[in-house]
Amino acid sequence: MGKEKQMAKKLEVKELNIEHLAAVMELQNKVVGNLQEDEKHFVLTRSAQDFIKALEHEHTYMLGVFDGEKLVAQSIFSYPQNGQVRDMPEFDCDTANDKLVVYKAILVDVEHRGSGLMKSMLDYIEKKSKAMGKTTSIIQIAIDNPASWISALANGMSIRKVDYDPTDGAKVLYLAKNLQVPTRSEAQGRMAMFVGKNIHREIPALFNKMQYRVAQGYYGVGIDKNTHSLIWEKPRDNAAKNRIMTQPLVQASGQGRTTRY
Ligand SMILES: CC(C)(COP(=O)(O)OP(=O)(O)OC[C@H]1O[C@@H](n2cnc3c(N)ncnc32)[C@H](O)[C@@H]1OP(=O)(O)O)[C@@H](O)C(=O)NCCC(=O)NCCS
Repeated sequence: MGKEKQMAKKLEVKELNIEHLAAVMELQNKVVGNLQEDEKHFVLTRSAQDFIKALEHEHTYMLGVFDGEKLVAQSIFSYPQNGQVRDMPEFDCDTANDKLVVYKAILVDVEHRGSGLMKSMLDYIEKKSKAMGKTTSIIQIAIDNPASWISALANGMSIRKVDYDPTDGAKVLYLAKNLQVPTRSEAQGRMAMFVGKNIHREIPALFNKMQYRVAQGYYGVGIDKNTHSLIWEKPRDNAAKNRIMTQPLVQASGQGRTTRY
């Protein structure tokens, strides 16, 4: 049975509110508790206070996936306001804050992994964001978290920047998607980058290879399972925009943050 059908049959996606706080904390503790020591940087562990802010909708919202009564996946998404310092100001500097949706704190219960729930949540949030007039979605993901960046690629986001996180120095990917364009613009060039059957083994080399491709104006757009490759495309007229996406960091943000968004 396809993933989407499985979702439709069994699971329910809905926006969360303050009544879900206990379930949200429980799911976070379970997922974070299951991360290996060298995976702890995948996601920022949040306090109840952080979640309350998101659940009370101060420009941030939470989405949940339920298996019956049980919360099995969740995500925070935020709509930054103009004039605010937003998350990851080092990325996509040319889009106004009020046109952005920022994905963060994505967690899937270990027992529900492998059904594409992260992609399903991104698809849902994207629909809402488009209806609100947002033009661009963005996310930052650790390069050694392929389950996450492959899900973001499946949602149609593309890898636009490959860099060290300004706050903790971790190797990260920045992905974005233009929400107002139904399909990607015609590519000027296309190439495949071998990532192997075991991506983790390739990651040290991948960081440099990815940085090189991005510097050449390519976006990482998808995985070809037959050739175990990451597909890169160079959008037409991308050169100027790409320079903005990859320009060196001017001002760091998120003081005190030691892990991903
Ligand atoms: C990241 C996360 C949310 C994804 O969960 P999910 O939606 O169940 O993702 P899936 O397991 O369906 O994996 C998505 C894709 O990545 C692939 N994938 C998963 N792990 C992989 C690995 N180690 N190497 C290569 N590919 C991998 C899967 O095959 C799948 O691709 P497919 O749909 O083409 O088969 C989940 O792993 C999680 O909660 N991790 C801990 C917290 C975290 O890292 N959050 C994200 C912060 S940005």
